[in-house]
Amino acid sequence: MSLLNGRIAVVSGAGSGLGRATSLSFAKEGAEVALLGRRESKLQETAALIKQTTGREALIIPTDITQEEQIQAAVQQVIDQWGSIHVLLNNAAVFEAGSVLELTSEDWHVQVATNLTGPFLLTKAVLPAMRKSKYGRIINITSGLSWNGAGGYAAYSAAKAGLESLTRTLADEEHEHGILVNLYNPGTLRTEMHATGKDPAVVTPDLIRLASLPVGGPTGTIVSYG
Ligand SMILES: NC(=O)c1ccc[n+]([C@@H]2O[C@H](COP(=O)([O-])OP(=O)(O)OC[C@H]3O[C@@H](n4cnc5c(N)ncnc54)[C@H](OP(=O)(O)O)[C@@H]3O)[C@@H](O)[C@H]2O)c1
Repeated sequence: MSLLNGRIAVVSGAGSGLGRATSLSFAKEGAEVALLGRRESKLQETAALIKQTTGREALIIPTDITQEEQIQAAVQQVIDQWGSIHVLLNNAAVFEAGSVLELTSEDWHVQVATNLTGPFLLTKAVLPAMRKSKYGRIINITSGLSWNGAGGYAAYSAAKAGLESLTRTLADEEHEHGILVNLYNPGTLRTEMHATGKDPAVVTPDLIRLASLPVGGPTGTIVSYG
């Protein structure tokens, strides 16, 4: 069974790690996938993998999610190509160490702009299309660092905690429009961001489930791997 047949998905940070693995898994389940990220060469690699595995042509849209105009143009490109958007995976993030004392305000702003404001802007841009079709599945990728208080990652942890709060607010605002919004904590993954951990492909079945939740399914929840 193809759980995402006919669905149109937007994935941020699709050029590597979890974003690449999930883009491929969504395409295998029948979705059309738009790949967002800053490095075009990495998005091309993901698109080639999707083409080779599924025969599908993914849409490559180099986008910096801290830039609202780029986000709006990217979402418009997806609508022009496929007419709608059903699934959004807010996955792109940066992870820089730094205690409160060590972080400069610029370090802080970059991490909050990418990890919290970026998902806000991308969500805001896709909502009109989702409301129009009275259907949406939004998944925001979070981290255990949002709540465990481990020192040394102040901006990343605070931005992910903000994303969790934003998710619950959005779930409340959008459930009457058929849009379900949930968090996913993948645990440690071996990616560009983190040298050790699981292969990201291990967690993609959870993301397929969240992307294909039935009408009236859970919203405003957090699902963790394992
Ligand atoms: N790895 C772990 O152990 C772990 C644990 C818990 C949660 N997570 C979360 O899992 C998600 C995926 O991370 P990952 O481990 O797969 O790391 P990753 O391979 O570094 O992926 C992050 C992606 O985000 C993109 N990105 C960063 N800044 C961006 C921007 N301004 N605009 C657009 N794209 C941007 C990067 O591509 P470009 O540089 O080309 O833009 C990259 O493809 C993140 O939300 C992360 O916080 C990871």
